[in-house]
Amino acid sequence: MAEIERHSFDVLVVGAGGAGLRAAIAAHDAGAKVGIVCKSLLGKAHTVMAEGGIAAAMANVWAEDNWQVHFRDTMRGGKMLNHWRMAQLHAQEAPDRVRELEEWGALFDRTPDGLISQRDFGGHRYARLAHVGDRTGLELIRTLQQRAVALGIEVFMECTITKLVKSDGRIAGAFGYWRESGRFVAFEAPSVVLATGGIGKSYKVTSNSWEYTGDGHALALEAGASLVNMEFVQFHPTGMVWPPSVKGILVTESVRGDGGVLRNSEGRRFMFDYIPEFFKAETADSEEEADRWYEDKTNNRRPPELLPRDEVARAINSEVKAGRGSPHGGVFLDIASRRTPEYIRRRLPSMYHQFKELADVDITAEPMEVGPTCHYVMGGVAVDPDTGESVVPGLYAAGEVAGGMHGANRLGGNSLSDLLVFGRRTGLNAAYAVVRRRAERPTISDEEIRAASEHALAPFSIEGGENPYTVQHDLQEVMHNLVGIIRTAEEMEQALTDLAALRERITRLSVEGHRQYNPGWHLALDLHNMLRVSECIARAALERTESRGGHTRDDYPATDDSWGKLNLHCRLDGEAVGITREPLPQMPDDLRELFN
Ligand code: FUM
Repeated sequence: MAEIERHSFDVLVVGAGGAGLRAAIAAHDAGAKVGIVCKSLLGKAHTVMAEGGIAAAMANVWAEDNWQVHFRDTMRGGKMLNHWRMAQLHAQEAPDRVRELEEWGALFDRTPDGLISQRDFGGHRYARLAHVGDRTGLELIRTLQQRAVALGIEVFMECTITKLVKSDGRIAGAFGYWRESGRFVAFEAPSVVLATGGIGKSYKVTSNSWEYTGDGHALALEAGASLVNMEFVQFHPTGMVWPPSVKGILVTESVRGDGGVLRNSEGRRFMFDYIPEFFKAETADSEEEADRWYEDKTNNRRPPELLPRDEVARAINSEVKAGRGSPHGGVFLDIASRRTPEYIRRRLPSMYHQFKELADVDITAEPMEVGPTCHYVMGGVAVDPDTGESVVPGLYAAGEVAGGMHGANRLGGNSLSDLLVFGRRTGLNAAYAVVRRRAERPTISDEEIRAASEHALAPFSIEGGENPYTVQHDLQEVMHNLVGIIRTAEEMEQALTDLAALRERITRLSVEGHRQYNPGWHLALDLHNMLRVSECIARAALERTESRGGHTRDDYPATDDSWGKLNLHCRLDGEAVGITREPLPQMPDDLRELFN
């Protein structure tokens, strides 16, 4: 067995989106030697797709706002399945994380008084998203990336991790390959932070970028961690639906936050027909009242377009199904008739250019066609809420790959604040664990490397097998058609049968050519992760016989109180995914009071 390239760190961070960068900075500041590995180029992170802003109760626009209200909104948005402690830490610490970002050079939009501007988003009681036009994620990444580089943190770009390695039950490091050369590399580290983002590439229509193949979810599962809340997948209500080449690309919720409304083919503002009981007291029930809110927010009843995303996505789905959709299978999002062209171009510059360049639509003059797109997975690695550590000692997770924070549904804007709050916490704790234990540098044995190499090279040794692109296409069809926005037991049983067949097919994948920059080979390895995660989603979704948040069962349309006390956890048992029901952690009385 030839020697392979090896590196050694105190803390290895896998992923260079917002959570990964923030974790790496925190671990570095705590005195650890830190390395970041990312699948893509530094700066090309999916975090940039959180366009609208960072949710934080800074009270710059509404003096009434505070962390308790943000906490309550987050829990209600998550239909009370969130880990209360994560939601509490998130609401308490988000304002400091935004101010810190500004100190590090982020240029936020301002209020007339010169404070950081905050915009409205669905499910948030007050306007609380700190933003940079509709390019907030981009500014966040730019700022963190510059800081990480200035601190001298080592970054390994275009490198994919395929296996986490353990020694004596603890994390010892990770094994992967360089995408360019195809050569293998091992990173030895007593603390590994997963910050790999989500799973959207298992779905046919998604806002997610190519890196989102559930790598961290699958790596953690295979290392012995559990995944929580995997049945909850968020379909953002507004993705582009036309032209086909851009289907799924995000249309930021800021369009609705800044005054845009949804209409069906009859011109009706249909969201008034879908206000759920839970939100009736605070949602306007006439156009006049909703408009008063946009112009003069003191009436406090919010327009129904700003209901949580799961509600809006389901309503759009129903309109299209009822034959009241737009020509290309979506609905209309109209800001042109409600705001001046100057306002639209200033507040929504990216949307203006996106539609002009990709769809030849001028959003200052005509409505957009939009429809739901797979955007976010609420489920992820079950972690300690304070430290971010999983049940595998030394293995941490932060950002979208971590579970618990968002329960059954995430509010828009809460992902950027989540990754700042928990990126920092996780990075600090991953570093403290090493420094405190004065951990010896673990080593990865040759045996481990041989096994990981053989697994990675398997697709080269099969001739005339399955084409990875065909298998990916078939997987996306299964998830889109059978485990999408609306689900039934029959469809999910079918999905599990189809996924088992796909799992069999990926043992026969074959790739052509050599190891240098071979995208077919890369996909073959990613497919392993995509299938693992898809099976977790389908199994958990079949198990939860109720509708709640990002999980809607046509055969169980009601929300069931008994399910409101349980989280589902997925674990690997050999090659099979097993599900356990676990009670929610007990919320302390002072927090429970907030819901009275
Ligand atoms: O609509 C958006 O700008 C997305 C934001 C988010 O997912 O937090």
